[in-house]
Amino acid sequence: MSDSMKLSLGDKQLDYAVLKGSVGPEVVDIRKFYAQTDSFTYDPGFTSTASCQSTITYIDGDEGVLLHRGYPIGELAEKSNFMEVAYLLLNGELPEAEAFDDFRYTITRHTMVHEQLASFFSGFRRDAHPMAIMCGVVGALSAFYHDSTDIHDPQQRTIASHRLIAKMPTIAAMAYKYSVGQPFLYPDNSLSYTGNFLRMTFGVPAEPYEVNPVIEQALDRIFILHADHEQNASTSTVRLAGSSGANPFACMAAGIACLWGPAHGGANEAALNMLHEIGRPERIPEFIARAKDKNDPFRLMGFGHRVYKNYDPRATVMQKTVREVFKAMNVSDPVFDVALQLEEMALNDDYFREKKLFPNVDFYSGVILSAMGFPTSMFTALFALARTVGWVAQWNEMITDPDQKIGRPRQLYTGPTKREYVPLGSR
Ligand code: CMC
Repeated sequence: MSDSMKLSLGDKQLDYAVLKGSVGPEVVDIRKFYAQTDSFTYDPGFTSTASCQSTITYIDGDEGVLLHRGYPIGELAEKSNFMEVAYLLLNGELPEAEAFDDFRYTITRHTMVHEQLASFFSGFRRDAHPMAIMCGVVGALSAFYHDSTDIHDPQQRTIASHRLIAKMPTIAAMAYKYSVGQPFLYPDNSLSYTGNFLRMTFGVPAEPYEVNPVIEQALDRIFILHADHEQNASTSTVRLAGSSGANPFACMAAGIACLWGPAHGGANEAALNMLHEIGRPERIPEFIARAKDKNDPFRLMGFGHRVYKNYDPRATVMQKTVREVFKAMNVSDPVFDVALQLEEMALNDDYFREKKLFPNVDFYSGVILSAMGFPTSMFTALFALARTVGWVAQWNEMITDPDQKIGRPRQLYTGPTKREYVPLGSR
């Protein structure tokens, strides 16, 4: 017999099934709770609530474990590539050679965007944040690809998924080109997914662009690190938007909007800005003191995580990648030294130790992206590009889940009770 949770509420005795996943904490099935008790559960920020079943990504925050379809992130980052990880997240298994070739071919053939989409960019100010442009332009895809918006048709869902993964680098590169006043470059299908993105971003039509293999490999790895992270805020946003049956392209725009926030994907930009503000190792204690001060809203950006109460395994790979790229390119950056020393001091500080605050993926990503030549404002756009794979995989899983319902949380109402309207002149 399966386990159950017994609960008494007033004079009612209740019994709830306890669901077991393949690994990880048990989950109490409270779907009937409201119908049986006329009460809701209260859980702002969903800290104790599983919103869905999923087979895609598993995180053990206490142990610092992240698995995609069972494969550890460190192993994927070292041995795989972003296209293969995309295939894995979408399909559940690593591809065999022929399936992988087909997948890469399909993604490559969807990299161009409708020519009319280019005119959207000129409606933005040149100094618009790339994430503002991405929200608008990705949302606008919903007005272009009408043959892939029937979410109940698996083939149309697959085409929409491939289009999103393929077009995101093109749109992100266009957002960058627009901000620096350079012409857009069409994709070059002879290049890899990541090499093509680098060329569209840093190449110019006036001369050939040679992809640097060290940067290409490092950026591809960064994309792997950001590909999915189970039910984080932006993924939950995509699922919630999609739960109403909304257009898939519009759902991704909702994910981009959520990712932009400094507590989520925007933290990489905030972390690098903070490291620059600190500037020299001598100033680190001052910033650590500020982060600990209850009366100061300042937080160490790139530190702490809702789920990881241990070292974020993505940060481990990221730190190693910074070292490798700096060595291969024979460059250094004083900001990296500040980051390393800040990490060491924070990890030896009781405040951070007691609260289990460790570097997260964003702590080192800004250092490396900036060494590659990306302006700070592009960091979150790169995160969005990579996370699109996760959003699309999770969105597909949600649509095909027989338990799926429109997402509709409830509330604890604490506002005024019913009262009579008072006309303006009598107030
Ligand atoms: N610096 C200083 N104190 C911190 C920090 C930090 N970075 N993060 C958390 N704390 C403290 C916080 O003040 C609180 O203290 P107390 O219990 O005394 O009130 C305690 O630690 C718990 O924090 P919380 O805000 O309740 O935890 P949370 O799970 O709601 O927040 C977080 C997680 C990531 C939003 C938070 O750690 C944070 O704001 N970090 C900085 C932003 C950041 O790096 N975000 C990137 C997240 S990883 C990338 C991604 O997945 O998008």
